[in-house]
Amino acid sequence: MTVPRLPGFATRAIHAGHDAHDRGRGTGALVPPVYMTSTFVFDSAEQGAAMFTGEIPGHVYSRISNPTLDLLERRFAGLEGAEAAVAFASGMGAITSVLWTLLKAGDELIVDKTLYGCTFAFMRTGLTKFGVSRRHVDMRDAENLAGAIGPRTRVVYFETPANPNMRLVDIQAVSAIARAHGATTVVDNTYATPYLTRPIEVGADIVVHSATKYLGGHGDLIAGLAAGRAETMHAVRVEGLKDMTGAVMAPLTAYQVMRGMKTLELRMDRHCASAMTVARALAAHPAVAEVHYPGLESFPQHALARRQMRQFGGMIAFELKGGMAAGVAMMNALKLVRRAVSLGDCDTLIQHPASMTHSVYTAAERAAHGISDGLVRLSVGLETVDDILDDLIRALDRLPAGRRRAA
Ligand SMILES: Cc1ncc(COP(=O)(O)O)c(C=O)c1O
Repeated sequence: MTVPRLPGFATRAIHAGHDAHDRGRGTGALVPPVYMTSTFVFDSAEQGAAMFTGEIPGHVYSRISNPTLDLLERRFAGLEGAEAAVAFASGMGAITSVLWTLLKAGDELIVDKTLYGCTFAFMRTGLTKFGVSRRHVDMRDAENLAGAIGPRTRVVYFETPANPNMRLVDIQAVSAIARAHGATTVVDNTYATPYLTRPIEVGADIVVHSATKYLGGHGDLIAGLAAGRAETMHAVRVEGLKDMTGAVMAPLTAYQVMRGMKTLELRMDRHCASAMTVARALAAHPAVAEVHYPGLESFPQHALARRQMRQFGGMIAFELKGGMAAGVAMMNALKLVRRAVSLGDCDTLIQHPASMTHSVYTAAERAAHGISDGLVRLSVGLETVDDILDDLIRALDRLPAGRRRAA
């Protein structure tokens, strides 16, 4: 007897949870309706009371749940290989709702050295204010975690690849150490997306996302998602989301994220292929000192990238020989590539982490956390790759160190 094959990633990203032929549930519409409602009507007072206690399932109020978000959450959980998911108004809404749920005063959080700026600020300033201590450990070597983890460690948190310097963390090794000490592993999977890496399948407990990025994919929304075990996600929904942050996603945004997810596989294939081409071209340019891209053989964690990532992603970080001044001159010379924060859009975007996304770190913190002042971050978009290359190379050729090539 043959075991039925599970539908592939793209098929699930397009169809999971919504059967257009299930006319008993609606009109047969191909695209699911958007439930633009804040509240839901009870058949009776008794039914309403039973829904409040959880005795019977159902939607009560859209800060807690909504059918459009429910479809997105189930579809997304399936893509991450998780039991359940919760949608949020932003990536920061997802991160803060998860951590407010898991942590209490007196607990310790161990985090990787490199984090997106606002996540770093939340942990340094926000959580500390409420008695949660944090320790930064360089998780490129999982043994560093083994040496630091202790009885008060409740959560181990990291990004892989990390924003902005592309450092990787071995999810399986780090999650095993955390689990052995009773700590929950939370992975920010924004850069990789579930198409390239599925942390839960290799031992992590929770993934969080800025769905603003590749999941939405078009630079037209702000959104967040988290996925994990059903019981944990229920706690995140009723504590972190409902009572603490209130960072609920709007139904229209859920519709937009689902529309984006339908082309996630297609877009990621193109982002990855173009990023590989751009990374190689940057590495060969005389004005470029170093390129951080997991797909390059010269990347120190290339072997881990091959094991952990299906492809190497659409993000590149690089350093110019002329440091920050050269970075500013190059960015200002670009015509097609847009100077903007965010990432994962169709449009190629470039920014300077030290003065933009990671400016909340002090200069000393940036130095300690591997974010150099000369680092430039590039989100390779979906334009014709030769046009992206022409723009970047023309701007690099104008730099003093690049003139040799241009001459
Ligand atoms: C890796 C990472 N995580 C989380 C966030 C926060 O997401 P949002 O901007 O959707 O709140 C960002 C935003 O840039 C990010 O890059």
